[in-house]
Formats: sequence, structure tokens, C-alpha cells
Amino acid sequence: MTLIPELTILQPADKEQIDLPRTSEDELAVGKKRLYIESYGCQMNFADSEIVAAVMRNAGFATTSSAEDADVIFLNTCAIRDNAEQKVRNRLKHLTGLKRQKPELLVGMLGCMAERLKTKLLEEEKVVDIVAGPDAYRDIPKLVEEAESGQKAVNVFLSREETYADISPIRLNSNGVTAFVSIMRGCDNMCSFCVVPFTRGRERSRDPYSIVREAQDLFDRGYREVTLLGQNVDSYKWKGAEGTDQDLQESLPHAPSTTQLTTFANLLEMVALIHPDLRVRFSTSHPKDITDDVLHTMARYDNICNYIHLPAQSGNSRVLKLMNRTYDRTWYIGKIDRIREILGEDCGISTDMISGFCTETEDEHQESLSLMDYVRYDYAYMFAYSERPGTLAAKKYADDIPEDVKKRRLNEIIAKQLSHSSERNQRHIGQVQRVLIEGTSKRSDDFLCGRNDQNKMVVFPKGNHQKGQYVNVLVTECTSATLRGEVV
Ligand code: SAH
Ligand code: SF4
Ligand code: F3S
Repeated sequence: MTLIPELTILQPADKEQIDLPRTSEDELAVGKKRLYIESYGCQMNFADSEIVAAVMRNAGFATTSSAEDADVIFLNTCAIRDNAEQKVRNRLKHLTGLKRQKPELLVGMLGCMAERLKTKLLEEEKVVDIVAGPDAYRDIPKLVEEAESGQKAVNVFLSREETYADISPIRLNSNGVTAFVSIMRGCDNMCSFCVVPFTRGRERSRDPYSIVREAQDLFDRGYREVTLLGQNVDSYKWKGAEGTDQDLQESLPHAPSTTQLTTFANLLEMVALIHPDLRVRFSTSHPKDITDDVLHTMARYDNICNYIHLPAQSGNSRVLKLMNRTYDRTWYIGKIDRIREILGEDCGISTDMISGFCTETEDEHQESLSLMDYVRYDYAYMFAYSERPGTLAAKKYADDIPEDVKKRRLNEIIAKQLSHSSERNQRHIGQVQRVLIEGTSKRSDDFLCGRNDQNKMVVFPKGNHQKGQYVNVLVTECTSATLRGEVV
């Protein structure tokens, strides 16, 4: 994915693309070295790239949207499944060609694949000069300097404290309306299939006041939606410690005192209170940790979106146990029932599903399908199991479901989800939905698009409306992916 820079130089100002006022910084970019970043994987990686861009800007780099123009290229990588890593390896082949034409070009590998493979990456991929793990981004300018002097540079140290709380991210490829805000890093769960605890280290929460400040700043700059990010947002916790902003704390009447624990429900409320026109979303919730408190907070504030991503992974209790998810089918269904009770039938719910996990039988696969029938998800991210070296599952269980069986089961899951997505979208036909406009539709400049409360994309004729505005749209038709309608 190509990221659009904030400091594009020597380009005519294009009103559609540029959301922030271009100042003398643009001129300052002339003569600077240029950085190009490409991000892979989850939203957290995209958010991290914005932190890296900020660190590099402080070190005197401007960002560019063209790899060919860059002095330094970073790939912010993902290791979640084997194919995520293969994609990056293929990209490196292309960069090898680029470097042949421009030998002074530096190539850095950041993120989860960098953390997983460490110095092995330097041995395997000759084109790579720099390897930096997710907690080493403050060190990146030093690593670049080292690489400029001709040495390979590596920092894959994982931290128990680093949250980059004080770094104000540079928004890359931004629509100027919606933004990600990281609220925590790492993961302390040990789902047996998952590489994330190894690549991102221990879980730690970010100072809530730095989160509120970042969200407030986004709102002041015209943004109208923030998505609070963490691998398991429900285990967010903060107890007043160094770094807490006393003045801001005292100005927030609903905030817990510095001696009290700030939970995810408290944090949600603090962000929701910034302004009724600032929408708040969050991801990811863990079925074992999501509390009624969070659901009640969502119900209390109109601007906290009625949408929950609650990954099930499997519908069978034995498989869930092997996966070390620490809940079973009954517990998961209990959580879905609570969501429907407290937030109503309309609350959007999505999931992640894995097909063909170690020893999964045909009957157990059927239970994943029947769970989907029970919940009727609005959306799902669906994957065939991919064994990751070093994980508990790789050590303990044989990856014994043949690829063609995994694929066939995955296709059955996908087919089911398509029918549920259409069914759930059809519910909206005839309803008026509040939509935050994110920009013009990809298909046609005469149409705008934005999301409704439940995170569904809604497309409608442009009229005199602009991105960043809220409009009420009467939904008249839908596909399994989008709603269509007109502003009323
Ligand atoms: N923290 C989130 C998930 C992050 S990873 C959670 O707990 O839900 C995103 C998704 O990738 C996971 O939910 C899972 O469905 C999928 N995934 C993770 N490891 C995988 C693997 N080894 N093979 C296939 N899918 C995997
Ligand atoms: Fe991985 Fe589980 Fe942590 Fe999610 S909760 S990141 S699936 S270990
Ligand atoms: Fe991938 Fe790392 Fe995210 S493995 S999914 S980029 S946390």
C-alpha cells in the first residue's frame, strides 16, 4: 500500500489530497533526505508507521509517496501468517532491483517480521540494511546513521514500558476525517496459534491523558472519528503514575483520580466526552475480557459507535481450548447475548475465524458454521490456519489438516458469511442512517461514501455535501459489502 506523505515537496497543492495546511515546512523539505514507508498487516502497524514518520521527521527526513524518490525505504511488516511474510519477501526482490540502480539507497525492515526473524533477516535478505522491532522506533535515526556509515544496523529489543505516548504521529495517507490512536501495545494472551506475543512483547497501556490529548488535537484539526487500538482493548488499565497530566486530569470531571484505576470503560467515556461530534470506535475486543461496563458505556454515548469486533476463531469448545482462547462456545454465546440485550439487535458485530486448526474434525468445523448461524455476523475476517514457528501450537500440535481441507472449510465459512452480510445489510433498507462522510466513492466522483454507526460503508450522490460532515442517508439498496441510498 502506498502511503501519501504529509510533506510532499515540489508538487502543486491538490485540495482533495491535502487535509492539513501546508506551511513553510514544505519548503523546509527541499534538500532534505526522503523517507518512503510501506505498511503491511493490522491497523496497529499502520498506526506505528505514523509514529516512525514523526521520529524520522524530527531527525530531518521528509516523507515521499514514491519509492523511486526515496533515500530510505522502510517496510513495516507483518508475521501473522506465512503468506504475509511471503508478500514482503516478494517486495524485497523488487527493492533489490531498485538498489542496483541506486546503491546508496537504504532499506529497513520494521515491525513484526523484523522482530520475529531478527538478524536472520540480514543473512537471508542481502538488500536489507536495517532491522528494527516494534519497540525500537525511537532508535531508528541512530540505526539509519549506522547504516549510512556502511554497517548493518539492528535493534529488536522489546520493552515493558514503551508506548510512544509523547510522540505525536504524522498522519500518513489520511482522509483528514478518521484516525487510529494506539492505546496499548503488546499482548499477554498466549493464543496457541498466534505470533503476536513474540513479535510485540508484553502488554502495556498508554497514559490515558496522552490519549485524550491526541484525540482532542485530532478533533481540533477537523478529524471526526478516532479508532482506539490494541490487541485486547478490554484489558486496558492505567494507574496514576509518572507522566500523568494532572492539569488535564483535573479538567475532566468524569476521569478517575490519579490514585484510581482507569479501565477501558473509563477511557472510552473520557474520549467520548471530548465532543459529541467525535465518533469513537475501538478494536480488538477479547471475548474473555469484554465487560458489561464497556457495553453500558457504549449504550450511554451516542458517539461511541454501535459496533464490536469480537473474534471467535472457532465455534467448538475443544478447539477453543487447544487454541488457548480461555473461553468456550457457551461463554462466547453468553457475550453475544449480553451485547444484544444491552445494545440491541442493531449493534454491528464482526469476528475473525480460523479454518483447519490442528486436529479440527469435520463436526467441529460444522460448529464454527453453526456459531455463525447463531450470531449472524455483519462482517468477518476469515483465514486458513498457518503454522507459525515458535508458537505454542507449533511446539505442541501437528499441523495435520491437509491444505485442501483447510481451503474447503474456509470457503464454506466465507460463503456463509456472505449470506449473513447481505442479510444484515438488508435490515437497513428503508432506514435512515447517520453517516460520517469520508470522501468520494472509489467507483465514481459523483458519489460520496462514509460509514454508518455499525461500520458499514454507505454510498450516496454527492449533492453539496463534503467530507467530514455528518448526513442522514435513507438506505434504498445494498450488496453484501455496501449500502446505497440518498441524503434526506
Ligand atoms: N488480537 C486479536 C487478533 C490479532 S491477529 C484477537 O485476539 O482477536 C488477527 C487475526 O489473525 C486473529 O484474530 C486470527 O483470526 C488470525 N490469525 C492469527 N494467527 C493466525 C495463524 N497462525 N493462522 C491463521 N490465522 C491467524
Ligand atoms: Fe494473538 Fe490472542 Fe493476543 Fe490476539 S489475543 S494478539 S490472537 S495472542
Ligand atoms: Fe501482523 Fe504484527 Fe499486526 S503480526 S497482524 S502486524 S501485530
